Amino acid sequence: MSAPLVDPTTVRERGITGTDGGVSFALEQLHASLVDPQMDSMRLLSETTMTFPDAISFSNGAPFDGTHDVAKLPLYLERYLEHLRETGVPEKKISRLMFQYGPVNGFIQEEVARNLKQDEGIDVTPDSIMITQGAQEAMVIALRALFTAPDQVLLTVSPAYVGIVGAAKTLGIPLRGVLEGPGGLEPEAVAEAVRAVRAEGKQAVALYLIPDFSNPSGTRLTLQARKELLAVAAREELILLEDNPYGLFGREGRELPTLKSLDDTRQVVYLGSYSKTAFPGARVGFMVADQPVTGPAGTQRPLAAELSKTKSFLTVGTSSLSQAVIGGILVEAGYDLRSASRATAQVYQERLQAVLEVLAVHFPPEEQAQHGVSWNVPDGGFFLMLRVGFEADLAAMARSARDYGVSWAPMTMFYVDGGGDRVIRLGFSNLTVPEIHEGVARLARFLNDTPRTDR
Ligand SMILES: Cc1ncc(COP(=O)(O)O)c(C=O)c1O
Repeated sequence: MSAPLVDPTTVRERGITGTDGGVSFALEQLHASLVDPQMDSMRLLSETTMTFPDAISFSNGAPFDGTHDVAKLPLYLERYLEHLRETGVPEKKISRLMFQYGPVNGFIQEEVARNLKQDEGIDVTPDSIMITQGAQEAMVIALRALFTAPDQVLLTVSPAYVGIVGAAKTLGIPLRGVLEGPGGLEPEAVAEAVRAVRAEGKQAVALYLIPDFSNPSGTRLTLQARKELLAVAAREELILLEDNPYGLFGREGRELPTLKSLDDTRQVVYLGSYSKTAFPGARVGFMVADQPVTGPAGTQRPLAAELSKTKSFLTVGTSSLSQAVIGGILVEAGYDLRSASRATAQVYQERLQAVLEVLAVHFPPEEQAQHGVSWNVPDGGFFLMLRVGFEADLAAMARSARDYGVSWAPMTMFYVDGGGDRVIRLGFSNLTVPEIHEGVARLARFLNDTPRTDR
């Protein structure tokens, strides 16, 4: 018998070969992002939630599915094809767009640009837009381009959306949280964080934030804070990664301008998503990156166009069918998703108001003081934060789900540098008002029965 090519003992010592002789890995052999417990927190949360399927779940932020109708999918696709024909695109090109590998940055930038102008007053050319597989891909691509050295740090609002933390960790980009206040990120705190990073001999390159109805906290930046933040960013040469999936889900008449629409120094890279305004299964989002990039020959292209190199090696392009369906939705809405989303926004508002009202019923001021319970009052979005008098970890959540029939998300999993031990996130977007009434009643029983540990 000939000797094996690889000595199995050596390999096993390195932990590559399993006891059965086949390949296996110790987790530590894989990229650090996979070892990081924070990267596993959402999976653990959804597993815990799924273990108790009868519990009313405030633990996620799935969009309201009452308007999802499979019969409409072919109609949107057809609407987009019709739109292409109306604009004089030849049949052969339409067929190529649908069936072949397409342009890396997508083919619905024109429609997205019209939508941005209409809904947000953002005025950019289509070549400054990259269509992506959801905002998530846009985050990865933007971070890949902007971070070039190990001493460069990404600042992020903390608590933060898990998607940005995951993207940064996957790419090995150092992350620093900037704690938000009751009104969201405070520009002075951002300036301070930039200075602190600089004092360590490092450089803060970009700051990620969700100015409108943040996930997980529900906070919203005032107009003044937006302007100040842009001024800090210009002064400190900081790119702002503005993520705006919830902007259309506030109260009518209380809209605030996005950072990008106020941005006259091209400080902002804007991350858009159609997951909430259309549907998440499409996996269509986009990035607006209008900063000119000068190549070696002196030619200039927008950053979004330059970044197509990265996208071409990640996903090659965004699904033609998904783009066409989203394109059809935009055309059908006359590019005005704000108006088209009004009824859905109303549903979210009713749900938010229901949570706030029922919390107030179960926790009048004297009960709040007694149990150490308080909450913030967002103006829109999918989430709010509830402060409690005990450690709200995954074990507490499992107890809540098992014994009281209600689940939620521990806020600790969203804090970048620790924090939120006694805070929970309530996501109400996909619960009916009666479910909210029952869910908050169950939650109140759980909170009342759990001894305080904060004094
Ligand atoms: C803050 C934030 N950004 C982006 C998204 C949506 O990302 P995608 O477009 O990849 O579905 C979500 C969805 O939960 C979110 O909460």
